[in-house]
Amino acid sequence: MSVAQLTDTHIVREGTTYFGIDTAQYLADAIDAVNALALPPDYAVITGDIANFGSAAEYARFREIMTALQVPYFVIPGNHDDRDRMRAALPPHTYGGSTDARVRYAVDEFAIRLVGLDENFLRPWPGALLDRDSAAWLERTLAARRDSPTIVAVHQPPFRTGLHYLDVGGFLGRRRLRRIVDRHPQVSRVISGHIHCVRSAQWKGATAISAPSTAPQVLPLLFMEGKVLGIRHEPPGFSLHALAPDATVTTAVYRRDDSGSYNPVDARNMRRSAHGTV
Ligand SMILES: [Fe+2]
Repeated sequence: MSVAQLTDTHIVREGTTYFGIDTAQYLADAIDAVNALALPPDYAVITGDIANFGSAAEYARFREIMTALQVPYFVIPGNHDDRDRMRAALPPHTYGGSTDARVRYAVDEFAIRLVGLDENFLRPWPGALLDRDSAAWLERTLAARRDSPTIVAVHQPPFRTGLHYLDVGGFLGRRRLRRIVDRHPQVSRVISGHIHCVRSAQWKGATAISAPSTAPQVLPLLFMEGKVLGIRHEPPGFSLHALAPDATVTTAVYRRDDSGSYNPVDARNMRRSAHGTV
């Protein structure tokens, strides 16, 4: 029983690239890697920034690429997405048929329950906010299934990441989100994307953790004090959250190597990578 998390696919129109990167091909390759897992996940969730400019053409291309995935998938939008165009382009079940102003839904038919929550706001600047209405919805939704192992999916990490330029805006209401999750021990993971690399924070019973983008990334190293330490190249990847019979959840981060194959990051690499993985 597991869930594959793909994020920040940043699909662009055919014939164009995302900073020189063919994000569509990288998504297709990540899908192939998920399909090839010895134990296929129950489903996949894409945690936002699906389309780089939020255009109908980009969503149509994403939908076409996703037809190769052999398990169901669900989506939440990111700050690059246009939630209405996304809803118009994708099958309604992929966003829980949500018609709320923000996309929010729960998927109950799998061993790991998924609660998807769109916390993005775009004006006056792109940011994340858990407002009172969404907080009340989340509280009700989690309270309805206290016995179901649950993953909550948002786009932006609801914790301080140490990436200075991303923490400046931050996730407004993240303490409110944490308090709600802390009251619901069935939540083992609060998963996110947005920062295109892996960071985690331990809450009371849940781990809040981000996943790598499905495409390669170039990240300025502006850690902690905002000091530029250099440029870090992050390889593409995805995460796999697996539920064991004893109800514990483990997260494996799969990274693409130079040969194009995807493998979970091992302990040796984790130690070597001071900033990249957990
Ligand atoms: Fe992104």
